[in-house]
Amino acid sequence: MDKPIRIALIPGDGVGGEVLAEALPLLAWAKTRGRSLEAVGLPYGADHFLATGETLPDAAFLDLRDRYDAILFGAVGDQRIPDGRHAEEILLKLRQGLELTVNFRPCTSILPVPPPTFDVEVFRENTEGPYCLQGFTEPGRAVDLAIHTEPAVRRLLQAAFLRAEHVCRPLTLAHKANVLKHGHGLWARIFEDLRKEHPSVAANSMHADALLCALVQDPGPFGVIAADNYLGDLISDLCAAFIGGLGVAPSISWAPHHPFRCTALAEPVHGSAPDIAGQGRANPVGMILSTALLFRHLGWEPEAAALEGAVSIALAEGAKTRDLGGTLSTAAMGKAIRDHLPR
Ligand code: NAD
Ligand code: IPM
Ligand code: MN
Repeated sequence: MDKPIRIALIPGDGVGGEVLAEALPLLAWAKTRGRSLEAVGLPYGADHFLATGETLPDAAFLDLRDRYDAILFGAVGDQRIPDGRHAEEILLKLRQGLELTVNFRPCTSILPVPPPTFDVEVFRENTEGPYCLQGFTEPGRAVDLAIHTEPAVRRLLQAAFLRAEHVCRPLTLAHKANVLKHGHGLWARIFEDLRKEHPSVAANSMHADALLCALVQDPGPFGVIAADNYLGDLISDLCAAFIGGLGVAPSISWAPHHPFRCTALAEPVHGSAPDIAGQGRANPVGMILSTALLFRHLGWEPEAAALEGAVSIALAEGAKTRDLGGTLSTAAMGKAIRDHLPR
């Protein structure tokens, strides 16, 4: 028997736990197919913080870093903690501390819609830019620093070029180097370097504002879009709108340079959705497709493809939660998908 893959489960807040609950039977299903894994639930989130004062203790971070292979994450965000301190100290700490530079957010039509279908993959840098959290407020002035470093930008762009090469699709860099001369200037320079190293990729860069307008008018020419942490966050939510909304959009982050044992975090693109939390209304598809991305990351391609296939069939048969105009609960949607998994 292979050494088990150790997966940490962090439901977090709001609908995070509701959608993660629909991923758990998928881990059990992977086991029945001979995949060796051990899943461990961890309590970090708003309730735990409010009860104990702990966000993600250092010892827990080190344990995750050194004794797990991957993390499945629900979402964080709770109105009782308006400064979002716990979200920073849990989610951003994991992304940054584990050096999960590459955040892959594929946005592909999965609902049965007439052509043209939408198929854009966003590569978002996941650790830097304004997310470095080095800002401050003083009387009459507020500052948010944005730091971009050459190793992280190069790693993100290299991953995007490799993907564009692999899928034979164009690559577009979204930037605002016309204004952010230093930070995005660095992005533009590294993009040019890599363009020369990957002559087979149809690569171009666009000002992000013009890119968004062009994308909404005609997404067809776009394939892979690379962006910094901030722009990538915005672009990926816009792309989600083309495929049914935040409830169906998946993501996975990884560390291409393998600095630690734990090299991946899979989480849906959406947040804790406080407006629908606790009502069994959340769509679990984004979480389930993120689990498929994790299976693929682990090298479990047959399980990843079977899971994506099961989602497509369930949707094609009309299984839908309320956000998609249907009536199914989170649990019923999860079951409708699992019913199409091969035994
Ligand atoms: P959100 O993604 O939580 O919700 C935006 C809208 O999308 C809401 O109307 C919500 O009901 C809907 N939605 C989200 N997920 C859905 C699902 N699975 N099924 C059906 N509908 C869904 O974004 P927000 O309202 O801006 O943020 C709420 C909280 O979540 C904030 O605290 C924010 O910081 C946090 N957040 C966390 C993450 C994360 O953990 N990765 C991501 C985004 C936002
Ligand atoms: C996301 C979220 C997070 C982000 C927030 C909750 C910090 O919007 O995962 O896309 O901005 O990265
Ligand atoms: Mn976001």
